[in-house]
Amino acid sequence: MPKTMIEPFRIKSVEPIKMTTREQRVKLLEVAKLNVFLLRAEDVLLDWLTDSGTGAMSANQWAAIMQGDESYAGARSYYRLLDVIQDITGMKHFVPTHQGRAAEKVLFTAVCKKGDMVINNCHFDTTRGNLEFNGVEAVDLVIPEGLQPALVHPFKGNIDLQKVEDTLKKHGDRIPFGMLTITNNTGGGQPVSMANIRAYSQLLKKYGKPLIMDVCRFSENAMFIKMREEGYQHKPVKEIVQEMFSYADGATMSAKKDGMVNIGGFIVLRDDTWMTAVKEMLILWEGFPTYGGLAGRDLDALAVGLMEGMDEDYLRYRLRTAEYLGEKLDAAGIGFVKPTGGHAVYIDAKSVLPNMPLEHYPAWSLCNALYLEGGIRGVEIGSVMFGKHLDDGTETYHSMELVRLAFPRRMYTQSHFDYAAEAIAEVKAKAHLVKGVKIAKQSKYLRHFTAEFAWA
Ligand code: F0G
Repeated sequence: MPKTMIEPFRIKSVEPIKMTTREQRVKLLEVAKLNVFLLRAEDVLLDWLTDSGTGAMSANQWAAIMQGDESYAGARSYYRLLDVIQDITGMKHFVPTHQGRAAEKVLFTAVCKKGDMVINNCHFDTTRGNLEFNGVEAVDLVIPEGLQPALVHPFKGNIDLQKVEDTLKKHGDRIPFGMLTITNNTGGGQPVSMANIRAYSQLLKKYGKPLIMDVCRFSENAMFIKMREEGYQHKPVKEIVQEMFSYADGATMSAKKDGMVNIGGFIVLRDDTWMTAVKEMLILWEGFPTYGGLAGRDLDALAVGLMEGMDEDYLRYRLRTAEYLGEKLDAAGIGFVKPTGGHAVYIDAKSVLPNMPLEHYPAWSLCNALYLEGGIRGVEIGSVMFGKHLDDGTETYHSMELVRLAFPRRMYTQSHFDYAAEAIAEVKAKAHLVKGVKIAKQSKYLRHFTAEFAWA
């Protein structure tokens, strides 16, 4: 039996990549003010900015799109998706939203009040943003191992149960629910174990608090459980998913990830308590509860995509792609968050550019270097994203300088990964030539999206 794991699909429709030379990319990056967010996508060879909404849909999903029922209320598409979601989650209530952050906004506005506190392994930026916008404090309680990039642990996304109990004791009256992000994107796409989900849920129950999961990458998490957790090796992924949801009282979902669609999201809730308030907010911002900001055809594509996302051959290949790139980086002596996550590889820029001072933004500079060397677009998770420009003109820096390469689903093949590994190793070999940057123009909030840079 040959050892190479092949992509478990073949390609029916292709999208050409426009090839560029290094000289062209130097000019393109300068026009983009040394910020890869400001590039045109067509000028990128491997677009690994995000795995969100960027994947390839299957022939069956495109076929389902033609079945879309665009009725305003009570469309067949809604009921087809409801059946799938109830089967997977075991939850009674489901409303669609146009994407994950809309689900967060609707749920949090409906059930949180100013002065509340929400705990989580790590809040994703939009989750934190939507809580803070409502005056809610967002507290991250991931296990200490989850914060050490080079440390190998099978479930670095686990929440620290001791810290959870301490926080519940101290601030219980302020906490409307506990959250858990599956997989933990902010911590490197790291999974949460079934034992941790179960114990966290029981602990919350003891204090009378519901568990709301942020489940964008629930299928990848379930596959990690199957591969790494005692007792799950022979369980079908779908049953693992069902067990994961059985411990939750509700969930928010960005379907742009494991829903295998280009747009979509939803809220599910187990009981009736919050549903009236949620539906009121939904109608105000998203739409009538049976379409919630999506077209009927989007609902049908999602109904098929959720099932395809749990396919075990696909998931094995999916997790292997990140691991494969990790092995190549290891061989080239490049540091990254270990073990590799489900949807992305997070390169430690300090291991590639050890001599670059923080004032020159090593992760941002590495991002630029990857574009110049190989036309690869990643995203900086470092001091541009998380540092701050203070009123007195000084800067604060982030504890880590990472570049995330996130992989769209079913899109890139093994040769793309081989090419990327070569380009990254090239950059490391020529590290002394990589130029740092300084910020020329920035906005007050989320500056990384729009900031303009000059060479340092
Ligand atoms: N929660 C998590 C864990 C996420 O990773 C994201 C999006 C969201 C919520 C929000 O969902 O984009 O549909 O509104 N993550 C993307 C990323 C943007 O690149 O990691 P959304």
